[in-house]
Amino acid sequence: MPDLGVNIDHVATLRQARETYEPDPIWAAVQAELAGADGITVHLREDRRHIQDRDVIMLQETVQVKLNLEMAAAEEITEFAIRVGPDQATLVPEKREELTTEGGLDLLVDPDRIRRCVDQLHDAGIDVSLFIDPDPKQIEAAIELEVAAVELHTGNYAEAETEDEQQEEIDKLSQAGSMAIEGGLLLHMGHGLTYRNVRPIAEIPDVSELNIGHSIIAKAVLVGIQQAVRDMKALITLE
Ligand code: PXP
Repeated sequence: MPDLGVNIDHVATLRQARETYEPDPIWAAVQAELAGADGITVHLREDRRHIQDRDVIMLQETVQVKLNLEMAAAEEITEFAIRVGPDQATLVPEKREELTTEGGLDLLVDPDRIRRCVDQLHDAGIDVSLFIDPDPKQIEAAIELEVAAVELHTGNYAEAETEDEQQEEIDKLSQAGSMAIEGGLLLHMGHGLTYRNVRPIAEIPDVSELNIGHSIIAKAVLVGIQQAVRDMKALITLE
C-alpha cells in the first residue's frame, strides 16, 4: 500500500499564467493534506517557471506531511534546499526546453556532481531520492550513492500503447524495484500515472511512494482537490 505524494506544480503554473497570487499552491497543499495526501511534492525548476522560492519556504512552514522537493543537482538549488530543509529531495534531470521531466537522471554521467549534491543534502539532514529509469545500471549506481530511495520513472509504462507493451514495462519496473529493495533502498515511482493506469503500479511489491501530479490536478479543476486526492488515495490503497 504505497503512500501518495501529490505534486502541486500545476497549481503554480496556473498562477504564473497571470503572474498573480491565485491560485496559491499553499492553499492546494492544505486541501490535499486534509484529503489524505501522505506527502506534498513540488519541483523548484532553475527557470522558476511555476513553483517559486517563496512557495517552498511557506510549504516547509505549513505542510505537516512529508515535503518532497524535486530539484536538479545544481549548486544554486542545492544551497536553497539546504537553507529550507524539506524532508526529502528528489534529484531529477532538467532541460530548459522540456514541457515536463523527460526520462530519469543518468547517474553515470557526471557522477562527481551528483555525489557532491547528495553528500551536501545528507550533511543537511535531508533524505535523498533519485529519479531514474528502471535500468539495472542506474539502480547499482544509486545503491553505491547510499541514498534513501529511488523513484523509478513510469513514463514509458504510461505511454505504452498495447497491453503487451504495458506488461513489459511493469516487468522492468518490478525487476528494477526488487534490485533496489535488495540493495536497501526505498522504492518510489512516478510520472504519467493516472486514475486509469495507476493500479498495476500500486500493486508492484514493496513500492512505498507514488508521486502524482497532472492527473490529480486535472481532475481537481472539475471536482475539487479534496475529491481528486481522495479518489486517487482510494485507488492506490484498495486491498
Ligand atoms: N515524479 C517526478 C520525479 C516528476 O518530475 C514528476 C513531474 O513533475 C512527477 C513525479 C509527476 O508526474 P505527473 O505530473 O505526470 O503525475
